[in-house]
Amino acid sequence: MKGSARAVPRQGSGVYELARAYELAFSYRNVQQEVDALIDWATACLGHAPWTALELAAGPADHALEMARRSIEVTALDLSSAMCSRASERATEAGVPLRVVEGDMRSFALGRQFEMAVVLIDSTAHLLTLDDFVANLRVTGDHLLTQPVAATKLDFSLVSVA
Ligand SMILES: C[S@@+](CC[C@H](N)C(=O)[O-])C[C@H]1O[C@@H](n2cnc3c(N)ncnc32)[C@H](O)[C@@H]1O
Repeated sequence: MKGSARAVPRQGSGVYELARAYELAFSYRNVQQEVDALIDWATACLGHAPWTALELAAGPADHALEMARRSIEVTALDLSSAMCSRASERATEAGVPLRVVEGDMRSFALGRQFEMAVVLIDSTAHLLTLDDFVANLRVTGDHLLTQPVAATKLDFSLVSVA
């Protein structure tokens, strides 16, 4: 429309409300291998396999669920209520414990700390400004134990942000 501001989609809206469709579209991934790599990397940093993990922007929580299957105590956080519902439903179906929190990865308070935090498959792309990125790093750091391990999957590389 002439003269009107361009509509900017609200974060967490649109495709992410179609949680089952998202799950299907991204089912091509080898989540087990990706979690193997994350755990190997965390183990190298921590000196032992991680017992606790936080997945931010977890979506339907493929990776969080795979970690929970391996007896890691995991919290999955996502902005989308549809994604959170689907993650909880899948945890129940799989019979694994998973804490799911609906929240914003730029500002959250979970009341505890973790050995490892991950943000996968380019989800940091939702941090649209430098302020958002810094806020995410700060709040993630607040939720990490003293030997922090954090990973973000940018395309195919794992990089440390700790
Ligand atoms: C590309 S999906 C990734 C989902 C999952 N990590 C995976 O590997 O399939 C991005 C996710 O980020 C979530 N998201 C977007 N902005 C967010 C924010 N500010 N805080 C938390 N989650 C957010 C969306 O709801 C969506 O589930």
